[in-house]
Amino acid sequence: MNDVLKKDKLPRHIAMIMDGNGRWAEKHGKIRVKGHEAGVRTVDQMVSLCAEIGIEVLTLYAFSSENWQRPAKEVSALMRLLRHYLKREGERLLKEGIRLKAIGRLERLEAGVRQELEEACRKTAGGTNMTLNLAISYGGRDEICDAVQALCRKVQAGELECKAIDDKLLTAHLDTAGLPDPDIMVRTGGEYRISNFLLWQLAYTEFYFSDTLWPDFSKEELLKIISDFQQRERRFGRVL
Ligand code: IPE
Ligand code: IPE
Ligand code: MG
Repeated sequence: MNDVLKKDKLPRHIAMIMDGNGRWAEKHGKIRVKGHEAGVRTVDQMVSLCAEIGIEVLTLYAFSSENWQRPAKEVSALMRLLRHYLKREGERLLKEGIRLKAIGRLERLEAGVRQELEEACRKTAGGTNMTLNLAISYGGRDEICDAVQALCRKVQAGELECKAIDDKLLTAHLDTAGLPDPDIMVRTGGEYRISNFLLWQLAYTEFYFSDTLWPDFSKEELLKIISDFQQRERRFGRVL
């Protein structure tokens, strides 16, 4: 299935905005929650494909800081799905050597979900095949503000000089500290925006926008995207 990919030009980090669940449900005459349920199957497929072909990090945008403003019923259904996913998949991630990580304002999550998440992250911490990074209660602006506050505290405490704050230091204070920047960002669902996702980290990422609704997104489509990525010339501002 993946014979078309060049092994020496694989992206290290793929980030995905999983959008279109609600519209998928509407299209099928179902309530929105059914779209989110169907979307979990696509998550499973993406995780297994990326682990199989040797991607180092897969970041999935599961719930934004703005998504808290959705109707309480939808928010609680999403939290329930997340909890079930962690319960169900924790073992599989462990078996497949996948380390689970979460970024975002996790303190806003209800205790049950948070415990399940912490437990799964702790259990899989030794996984070396791939990092599955879930962005939950995540907003890029929040993340940057938190990093700036952490740096300010160090300056106030006399541990750091303002002029020592540079790209590298700020990067090291983000939730994604230690992870490479995404090489590819995919947004499904036909919207051409980034909705507060990884604002700092996407500086030189290659973007792909797919009209496919997340529950219909397939391994084949991701393979096509990776194969296209391998043809792109990344210049990072230089002249090649
Ligand atoms: C993405 O699907 C899932 C989350 C944001 C949690 P949406 O729920 O945004 O689906 P659409 O965009 O309304 O179709
Ligand atoms: C972005 O999708 C957030 C996630 C996929 C988790 P949204 O559906 O919330 O984004 P907007 O509202 O269309 O920008
Ligand atoms: Mg949406």
